[in-house]
Amino acid sequence: MYSSIPKGLTDFTLLVEKGTNAVITNKYNPFYYHGALPQYYLWVLYLSGLLLFAYYIPTIDNAYFSENLVNAWTSVNYITNTIPMGGVIRGIHRYAGDAMVITIVLHALRVWVTDRYRQYRWVQWVTGVILLFMVLFIGQTGYYLVWDERSLVLTRMTVSALAALPIVGPGLAAWFLNGSAITNLTLSNFLFIHIGLSFTLLFGLWLHYVRMTRPVLTPPPAINYLLTAVLLLVVFAYPITSGKMADINTTPTSFDIDWFFLFPYYLLAHMDLTVYWVVIIAASLALMLVPFPSLYKAAHPVEAAEVVLSKCVGCRLCSLDCPYQAIEMVPAPAGSRFKLLATVMPYRCSGCGVCVGACAFDAIDLPNLLDSDVTAQIKAMAEAQ
Ligand code: HEM
Ligand code: SF4
Ligand code: SF4
Repeated sequence: MYSSIPKGLTDFTLLVEKGTNAVITNKYNPFYYHGALPQYYLWVLYLSGLLLFAYYIPTIDNAYFSENLVNAWTSVNYITNTIPMGGVIRGIHRYAGDAMVITIVLHALRVWVTDRYRQYRWVQWVTGVILLFMVLFIGQTGYYLVWDERSLVLTRMTVSALAALPIVGPGLAAWFLNGSAITNLTLSNFLFIHIGLSFTLLFGLWLHYVRMTRPVLTPPPAINYLLTAVLLLVVFAYPITSGKMADINTTPTSFDIDWFFLFPYYLLAHMDLTVYWVVIIAASLALMLVPFPSLYKAAHPVEAAEVVLSKCVGCRLCSLDCPYQAIEMVPAPAGSRFKLLATVMPYRCSGCGVCVGACAFDAIDLPNLLDSDVTAQIKAMAEAQ
């Protein structure tokens, strides 16, 4: 069977997981909640973002003639320094974003290293890569919103990079700026992209989960408390501040980089624009295509389950139990005593055999592991003892 994963790496990961079980039991082992961890941070981001949104003013000048909330930069400063716990909420929002990126990368590594990313799981992988890119872009738009000197540099770098793309470039740059230059409308566009894309993530997540019957979406409360405590520790240890207010008549050049979200800007600053786009597009495609060599190299090595139509009574038990949503209930042919029949979608089937155990009518089998063979093997083992 094709596999691109060094076996030593898989063995090592499983050994660490086992070791963690021995110390904190499998109930609290974070390895078993690798997908639930970024999901947890997403909820934290929604909640903290909602509170920031209440005071954020998406303009570069005093378009609303407000005393304290003059523009984006002053409103962020007002949130940080004047509103009770505002700085803490801002810190939670910033660091939960970083933590989400870290946990997404760990989650992707975990599914890759344990070979749970290809064949019938390719949809999860491809949607996962798209989710990762969306999260990175949402985080970057968050940095534009602060409207300090870093925001200005990032905005200008993004406009130059987009404009350099053939055919669509000028249109994309104008869409990004919401016009031909930086104006108040630019910041409302950034806010719209930041919030709009954050909620579009939910649709992406639905696609990510649609082929899993019972995805583990929440860690146990104890892990949630621990994650919250660590987040708060970081928030108080490293309070968030803004840089100097952006002035579109100046040309700041340097800025502090947040490696979790802003690393593409590091590349952008050190590469020719054409090389930058070639590297970004090639790396994204390569990441997206990781699960696919197995599809043509091993020509579906999974032995999909098969329904014995003459025995199926349409009770649905197999389809409710199937972990990969691989069994569809279809109307039974005219004249049948039953209303429904189970049908296996072979491209979704993992060959796990759960359905075989679920069926009380001996009506579903794995072709190379018939019920009668398994029973005979168990009997033989029992007799041998
Ligand atoms: C917003 C980001 C993401 C969230 C919230 C998320 C969440 C989850 C969750 C909750 C599961 C179910 C895990 C389980 O039940 O054990 C899962 C499965 C999976 N995810 Fe993600 N994921 C994200 C991004 C990614 C990325 C970036 C990749 C890979 C590039 C990825 C690949 C997969 C795969 C292959 C599975 C199936 C694993 C299996 O069946 O054991 N995900 N994801
Ligand atoms: S073997 Fe059965 S339960 Fe397992 S994935 Fe295939 S159809 Fe679903
Ligand atoms: S559990 Fe068995 S009898 Fe029931 S729908 Fe599935 S295959 Fe048919």
